[in-house]
Amino acid sequence: MARPLTAIAHDALSGMLDCGDRAVDATVGNGHDTLFLASRLAPDGQVIGFDIQQAALNAANARLIAAGLDANVTLLSCGHERLGENLPPDWHGSVSAVMFNLGYLPGGDKRLITHADTTLAALQQALSVLRIGGLISLMVYPGHPGAGTEVQAVLGWLAQIGRRGRVTHHSSPGPALYLIERLA
Ligand SMILES: C[S@@+](CC[C@H](N)C(=O)[O-])C[C@H]1O[C@@H](n2cnc3c(N)ncnc32)[C@H](O)[C@@H]1O
Repeated sequence: MARPLTAIAHDALSGMLDCGDRAVDATVGNGHDTLFLASRLAPDGQVIGFDIQQAALNAANARLIAAGLDANVTLLSCGHERLGENLPPDWHGSVSAVMFNLGYLPGGDKRLITHADTTLAALQQALSVLRIGGLISLMVYPGHPGAGTEVQAVLGWLAQIGRRGRVTHHSSPGPALYLIERLA
């Protein structure tokens, strides 16, 4: 059986994250990726997470408290399109990883989805806050209403990265995973 894309993303990030690093979860949702990042960076590292739904932030916070990792995470009730202005100045250029898991909140309101314009703004800012060698993990879902526009926009953005990043692609019958390493 094919390895789940979430596991491939976590493997790729595990290989380059160290205790004490800084990471961003751009789409916190129920907090699975936030917890993963915090567990890789603890006890000295920090994660900053973004989501626009309070229900998502509450679920993620409960998950982090249960794991004893809440002190390593700051959750922001804020859109990821404001990522750059919400990171401390000394994070700019020093972030090791940014995770995106697009679409809707599992178990939540499926009408509240990520959108092309805000996603592209966030991706642009994510690439610029990464350290050289840092990684964006980007999970893209094609199936839900409204997804097509976002998928096309993401593909267009990936195509113009050029020498700034190296893009690796993993496909599946459903979602696709893109790993973007900052090169310059
Ligand atoms: C697929 S879920 C994320 C799942 C999450 N990574 C996890 O491990 O549980 C997508 C999330 O993106 C959030 N979202 C939608 N628009 C957003 C935006 N502009 N900024 C930040 N988060 C957003 C949704 O509220 C939803 O919780």
